[in-house]
Amino acid sequence: MNILVTGGAGFIGSQVADAYIEHDHHVVIIDNLSTGQKEFINSKAVFYEADITDPSVAEIIKSENIQVINHHAAQISVHDSVKDPVADAKSNIIGTLQLLQHTVSSGVGKFIFASTGGAIYGEQDYFPADEEHPLKPTSPYGLSKLSVEGYLRFYQEQYGLSTTVLRYGNVFGPRQNPHGEAGVVAIFCNRLLKDQAPVINGDGEQTRDYVFVRDVVRANVMALGPDCSGIFNVGTGREATVNELARSLLQRAGSDIAPQYAPGRGYEQRRSCLDCKKIKDSLAWEPKVSLEEGLVETYKFFTNNKN
Ligand SMILES: NC(=O)c1ccc[n+]([C@@H]2O[C@H](COP(=O)([O-])OP(=O)(O)OC[C@H]3O[C@@H](n4cnc5c(N)ncnc54)[C@H](O)[C@@H]3O)[C@@H](O)[C@H]2O)c1
Repeated sequence: MNILVTGGAGFIGSQVADAYIEHDHHVVIIDNLSTGQKEFINSKAVFYEADITDPSVAEIIKSENIQVINHHAAQISVHDSVKDPVADAKSNIIGTLQLLQHTVSSGVGKFIFASTGGAIYGEQDYFPADEEHPLKPTSPYGLSKLSVEGYLRFYQEQYGLSTTVLRYGNVFGPRQNPHGEAGVVAIFCNRLLKDQAPVINGDGEQTRDYVFVRDVVRANVMALGPDCSGIFNVGTGREATVNELARSLLQRAGSDIAPQYAPGRGYEQRRSCLDCKKIKDSLAWEPKVSLEEGLVETYKFFTNNKN
């Protein structure tokens, strides 16, 4: 298949592109390199350096005869979305809508969307949250993902576009950007390798559902299946606190530095945990990498890529 991976120079998108190429698909990547890196781009992919809002994207989709769009390009920082909700919406809502318009004009049959299970449910009413849980995002980032999910329903009903929404937990693993506001595992690894203390916002007892990037990539491969449409949580069903993450990584680094505590962020949820029964029953997807195994591999990656 001819597949466009937007954000294919980024942490998750680049590894999705690698997997699609391994499965013999023709992969085209569009990325503006705002957080992505050129060296993550698979040499067998056709790469266009462009913003998803750029008018040239329509022509790329047509000329490359794209059949599937896997949409990972986004402004990914919850913190930045609170500071500048308009910029977040321009990239995450308007940019996605423009892509959806191109799917209609070019006859693209399928759209896979990287949504969020960590930020779309808000403070959960029950644990773990299944896909039917009320959607009450506490940030503009979560609202932008919710908004796109609504548009996807419209494009499916109006134009028959096949849509798959993957609501990720907190994805971690090799290639995650350690310099931004998102990606606590990468940020902690980076600080520990510089002998700096991990900085924990709040009391560190907030929980997230941490899912390893290779497992997320596998869900994206399964999402190409002809019968795979709908909304699926992609997580582990297990919660870990930030304090636990810090302890585990400090141990791995053989460091006795004490974590530093900074003020909490009001817009951050207290707990997040995803029920992944639906994707298990529908696609036989299950996470294969435990948090500990994933942390070992991630720490090793950052050790080997210090510079
Ligand atoms: N990392 C997570 O825990 C997580 C959780 C839930 C959902 N997601 C979603 O997965 C997707 C990928 O996230 P990631 O963690 O790999 O982040 P990332 O920042 O590494 O990847 C995003 C990529 O998109 C590119 N990009 C950003 N805005 C663009 C634009 N307007 N036009 C073209 N390219 C643009 C960036 O350069 C980067 O390569 C995002 O949609 C994100 O919202 C990530």
